Amino acid sequence: MRVFLTGGAGYIGSHTLLEVLSGAHEVCVYDDYSNSAPEALKRVERLSNRTFQAVTGNILDQTSLASALADFQPDVVVHFAGKKAVGESVVKPLMYYENNVVGTLSLLRGMEAAGCTRLVFSQYYFYRNP
Ligand SMILES: NC(=O)c1ccc[n+]([C@@H]2O[C@H](COP(=O)([O-])OP(=O)(O)OC[C@H]3O[C@@H](n4cnc5c(N)ncnc54)[C@H](O)[C@@H]3O)[C@@H](O)[C@H]2O)c1
Repeated sequence: MRVFLTGGAGYIGSHTLLEVLSGAHEVCVYDDYSNSAPEALKRVERLSNRTFQAVTGNILDQTSLASALADFQPDVVVHFAGKKAVGESVVKPLMYYENNVVGTLSLLRGMEAAGCTRLVFSQYYFYRNP
C-alpha cells in the first residue's frame, strides 16, 4: 500500500513508520518538525534499511498538503500531525483547535481531491474546564 503519514517524525509517528516499513509498503511522511526533527527520520531509515519520501510542510498549508497528496496518490492516510501537550492546550486552546481541527479538515479536503478515502486517525482533543 501507499501510506501517507502525517506527523511521521514524532513519537507515535516514527514508531508507526518503522512498523509500516517492515512490510512492503511505500511511505510518504508529511511533517513540519514543529515538535520533532528530521534526524528521527534518518534513524528510522537506518533501523529499517528502507528509504521513503519525506515532505516538509504544515497541514494547515492547504496548497502544500494537497500537492503532496496529489503527487503521492496514497491508498491510506495515517494522521498523527497534532498537538497534544495538556498544559499548553489549556493556555493556547485556539491554537490547538486550529492545528488539530482545522488541520484535520485541511487533510480531509486534500484526501478528497486526491481520491483517497481511507484514514487512520488518532488524536486527543482538549477542553478548557469551565
Ligand atoms: N503519545 C501518546 O501516548 C498518544 C496516544 C494516543 C494518541 N496520540 C495522538 O497521536 C498524535 C501524535 O502524538 P505524539 O505523541 O506522536 O506527538 P508528537 O508531538 O511527538 O508528534 C506529532 C508530530 O506532528 C508534527 N506536527 C504537529 N503539528 C503539525 C502540523 N500542523 N503540520 C505538520 N506536522 C505537524 C510534529 O512536528 C510532530 O512530528 C497526537 O494527535 C496525539 O494526540 C498520542
